[in-house]
Amino acid sequence: MPSRKPAVLVARAVPDAVLQRLREHLEVDDNQADEPLSAAELSARLAGKVGLLATTGERVDAALLAAHPQLRAVANMAVGYNNLDVAAMTAAGVLASNTPDVLTETTADFGFALMMATARRIAESEHFLRAGRWRKWSWDLFAGAEVHGSTLAILGMGRIGQAIARRGALGFGMRVIYHNRSRLPAADEVPLKARYVDKATLLREADHLVLVLPYAPESHHTIGAAELALMKPTATLTNIARGGIVDDAALAAALRARRIAAAGLDVFEGEPAVHPDLLDIPNVVLTPHIASASVATRTAMAALAADNLIAALTGGKPPTPINPEVLAARPA
Ligand code: DGY
Repeated sequence: MPSRKPAVLVARAVPDAVLQRLREHLEVDDNQADEPLSAAELSARLAGKVGLLATTGERVDAALLAAHPQLRAVANMAVGYNNLDVAAMTAAGVLASNTPDVLTETTADFGFALMMATARRIAESEHFLRAGRWRKWSWDLFAGAEVHGSTLAILGMGRIGQAIARRGALGFGMRVIYHNRSRLPAADEVPLKARYVDKATLLREADHLVLVLPYAPESHHTIGAAELALMKPTATLTNIARGGIVDDAALAAALRARRIAAAGLDVFEGEPAVHPDLLDIPNVVLTPHIASASVATRTAMAALAADNLIAALTGGKPPTPINPEVLAARPA
């Protein structure tokens, strides 16, 4: 007898236990070989499928939706969902979901660690040591910027931004300033002594600027040459948000000219390609989009994406929908 389970595509590898759980409820076409799918391959593999478990590498846009009118749900295994055209999905009656909360603390740990590695020149000094260039102790050998007691400037004060602010204020005695679309309620600001400032003030006063805002066309190149010019020459910039928020070419030029002291980047415009100008300058720490990558957290993200997909396709209540109005509009 043919399977009556809803058919789905899991676009990239997921933990085996999560795949097994998906298979209990759904007919799964998997990609445990983990080869990234081109747009054409994604579309071909989606033929006849009503669901997709996607990562940030798969783009779900109006063209894909038009080619697959049978699609009913896309579960993104990420909190950010700039790869999804949510308006087009809503118009097409396709439920979108993401994986908030389960990654907040892990991602904040990494953001803080990357900021510290950048300020204290950890990657640069390790490369120097490995290259056999360490001959003597010197008072200023890889002397970097102070972290404790300095000004932590956060652009994008959502869940992850606030978790980074907590680490800075409560763990390292940092003065926290932030800029966000909207100001936090006093109950959230007061325990951190966080001060809401305009973007120019944030850039001017930052000792360590950390970017945690979502990507949208409006946030493209939020940090470019003009913004970098406002920063202190001793300041650092850390980007764990999305590529495209920073103009990587302008940043490379600013780092090379020591317009700012250093940068830590986990995300890149056009990743996995990295702007070549960033690759040969010493004062930048580069990591391959791993801010949420602890084993426990990536497993929790995959499990939550699976829960969302299973619920959306079997009449349940998806835990973290992005466009829940789609469900409300479905016949009971
Ligand atoms: C997210 O969840 O948005 C991360 O960037 C993906 O790893």
